[in-house]
Amino acid sequence: MKKNNFVTVREARKIASKKVSVGKFNWFESGAEDDFTTLKNTYDLSNIQIYPRILKKIIVPSISTKFLGNSYDSPLVLAPMGHQTQFHKDGEIEMAKGTKNYQMISCFNTQGRINLSEIKKFSQNNNLIWQFFLFGNKKWILEQIKLAERNNCIAISICLDAPVRSYRYSDRETRYDARKFGRRTLKQSPDINMALKYDFSIIKWIKQQTKLPIIPKGMVHYKDTKKLIDLGVDAIWLSNHGGRMFNSGLSGVDILKEHKKYIKSNIPIIIDGGVRKGSDIIKYLSIGADMVAIGRPALYGLIANGNRGVQEIFRILQEELKISMTNGGFKNIKEIKLLAKNDKK
Ligand SMILES: Cc1cc2nc3c(=O)[nH]c(=O)nc-3n(C[C@H](O)[C@H](O)[C@H](O)COP(=O)(O)O)c2cc1C
Repeated sequence: MKKNNFVTVREARKIASKKVSVGKFNWFESGAEDDFTTLKNTYDLSNIQIYPRILKKIIVPSISTKFLGNSYDSPLVLAPMGHQTQFHKDGEIEMAKGTKNYQMISCFNTQGRINLSEIKKFSQNNNLIWQFFLFGNKKWILEQIKLAERNNCIAISICLDAPVRSYRYSDRETRYDARKFGRRTLKQSPDINMALKYDFSIIKWIKQQTKLPIIPKGMVHYKDTKKLIDLGVDAIWLSNHGGRMFNSGLSGVDILKEHKKYIKSNIPIIIDGGVRKGSDIIKYLSIGADMVAIGRPALYGLIANGNRGVQEIFRILQEELKISMTNGGFKNIKEIKLLAKNDKK
């Protein structure tokens, strides 16, 4: 098997950009309209300042953590991303193989190309979340819930922030059409217009259909999240979809800070958007996240070297997290999360 040809996430990105066409690269790399919100995700993370502490006798920091009662190797989560067979013929299967050696959460979904049961076969240690969009009637939604239950998923996520395809200029300008590339074993969702017809009552209904934890994804306004918490969801996945849907100008950092300001509940929080470095993970944890999801960097790994590339991306991020924690003076994840409580960096 081919050895990894990159040693940093940024080098993997460079390799990925050379391995696929400009259209394909821009399809996944771009953000809504002129990419402003996507870029702000990374910029605002870099702008958070944390004072490093010294002489704390940290030999090897512990990056393990707990989420919804389970223990994980690190706070990292694989974010759901659609249409992965465009990048590798086995797309989602390679992604699952790439994360299977870590005790971590991986999220796959109805916008992917490969059936959940096939993904499951290659997921050994993995804790899977099955995500659906509201692209069908209640009967279809119930089928997705049952599918997640049959495949022993640890939770169900619902993507709430992408009712219609957005305008991403650098994607549209290449005239690339993702639907024409990559194989599919998963049937397409039956009716994308259904997403425009549901309101918050669908979440209440979904919650009544299953004992699996429900994790809605894509809230930006804390008022929406408050409603979802009142409906009994089990965790929240804050996200601006990597800046791909609405060019809100609100970064992941903005979103999380506002949530912590206005919502006092202790509900577990996954956040994503713009994480490219070990210190980025520390920064999201330091302002109140429990878990941090990774999107595009996993695709860089997949394109650069298939499942080995994905595995290497997560290894690098974990290693960078440990090194940043040692240099920053954090013994464990709990110590980082304390910063959110003290609000003293
Ligand atoms: C190519 C691509 C496809 C995506 N598809 C989905 C999706 O189907 N469902 C979803 O909830 N989020 C989707 N997302 C958003 C990711 O789950 C995640 O929120 C985002 O990528 C995080 O930002 P990052 O790429 O900067 O890490 C997608 C992102 C990308 C880049």
